Amino acid sequence: MEIKEANAYDFEKLRIFMELVDDDFFPPLSLRPGGIHGRISGCLAGTDSNYLIAEDESILIAALGYHKNWDGTGEAYISFLAVHPDYRGQDIARSLDSVLIQKLEVTAISYINVTTWSTNPGGYEMYKRLGYRFTRTLKDHRAAGVDTLCLKKKIGHGV
Ligand SMILES: CC(C)(COP(=O)(O)OP(=O)(O)OC[C@H]1O[C@@H](n2cnc3c(N)ncnc32)[C@H](O)[C@@H]1OP(=O)(O)O)[C@@H](O)C(=O)NCCC(=O)NCCS
Repeated sequence: MEIKEANAYDFEKLRIFMELVDDDFFPPLSLRPGGIHGRISGCLAGTDSNYLIAEDESILIAALGYHKNWDGTGEAYISFLAVHPDYRGQDIARSLDSVLIQKLEVTAISYINVTTWSTNPGGYEMYKRLGYRFTRTLKDHRAAGVDTLCLKKKIGHGV
């Protein structure tokens, strides 16, 4: 397996991958503003954003989307993280997170933010295991009875 920064030519691979995992997200990625196309184009090979992709023999098996200056805060934000269903439980999400940290630790960025949702206990547990700490709940943010859960992790010299 190889982890690398995506480039503009990876758009189609990312689109196919996101369609595969679409229903693992709530709401599905395709039903959010901008849909899958907007999600990819808003992050791929940007000035301060990109996808880290994991490939197995040139097949895209996982991706992590990140933004380096989230809402002008100077903090990073993970906007997408998924692993192909056949490859889960093999530390691939952990590896993507580690590569992101290595990249950010040489910058002035001190925190990585992420959100998940209250009906995704597996995703929440994964972030906790990767060292993210719960910060707040946005009640009924995704739908009636489905909250957004916010987490963050200190990196580098953050306090
Ligand atoms: C959540 C997801 C990214 C995990 O990917 P993965 O490659 O299987 O995760 P890893 O193998 O790197 O696991 C990292 C840690 O999280 C834990 N973990 C991963 N998935 C878990 C789950 N479903 N339930 C509980 N713990 C989980 C692992 O046990 C591991 O912790 P450990 O080393 O202390 O044992 C993957 O299941 C996925 O793509 N899910 C659908 C999309 C999603 O929910 N994305 C995240 C929320 S936005």
